[in-house]
Amino acid sequence: MTELIVRRLLIDLEQPVARHWCAGDAFLTAWFNALSMSFPVGEQFFIDSVRNGLQALAPEQSDRYQGEVQGFIGQEATHRRIHALFNELIERHGLVNDWEPRARERLRLVEGTDPRHGLAITAANEHFTALFAEWMLSHHHLLDGCEPRLKALWLWHSAEEAEHKCTAFDLYQALGGSHAWRVKWMRRITLIFLTDTLRQTANNLRRDGTLWRWSTWRSAAHHMLGREGLLRRSFKPWRSYFRPDFHPSQQSSDLSQNWLRDNSRLYTRVGAA
Ligand SMILES: [Fe+2]
Ligand SMILES: [Fe+2]
Repeated sequence: MTELIVRRLLIDLEQPVARHWCAGDAFLTAWFNALSMSFPVGEQFFIDSVRNGLQALAPEQSDRYQGEVQGFIGQEATHRRIHALFNELIERHGLVNDWEPRARERLRLVEGTDPRHGLAITAANEHFTALFAEWMLSHHHLLDGCEPRLKALWLWHSAEEAEHKCTAFDLYQALGGSHAWRVKWMRRITLIFLTDTLRQTANNLRRDGTLWRWSTWRSAAHHMLGREGLLRRSFKPWRSYFRPDFHPSQQSSDLSQNWLRDNSRLYTRVGAA
């Protein structure tokens, strides 16, 4: 069991953000914006899935997970609230969230089904966010040219994603979820997640008027496919999810712990005296 602390990030999200807030890079800005647009609906689904999973456990097992689930829900609820505020700011730039209504429609299909489906979907998405978090924390220099509050937002979220990456996976296992379904959902989520990210990023760039600039494509190729790019760096750890003996804790979370330790001035503990 992991002890999950709920933190309130001490940043001001009332002030507007610059159109290309990510160090002037149109591609990175559009791509981060796309991810942020998926968080409010996605993280609510993760909260509901984990809550349903806990309720489906036998009482002696649910006692074991109760505290961790509460921490998970607290962390994701804070993320979705802060990203909803951030999304309001970026929508002032004329961006439209096309991802959310599509995701909402799709997620309706698993409502009321075996809670292990929701958990398998959540565990697969959490694996993606954990890979993203590891890449983000090890490439934090990409955010050096951003306003400090926005750098704090993305690194705090990354650190907490790495921290709670086992919760949905462990509940799925505790409910007897099979390997076959776990990897089946991972295949589907991979396709859906990559397609949705690509579509929303392209939509953001189109609405921003920067889709057909050479610098946009150069940045995309460099940050996604380059030697240090997200896709190149994450392929192997993504693939390990398909191993029968995979567990999220096998992938290091040191960068997350270090960031949380070194940046404690940026947050307060919720519920602490
Ligand atoms: Fe989150
Ligand atoms: Fe998460």
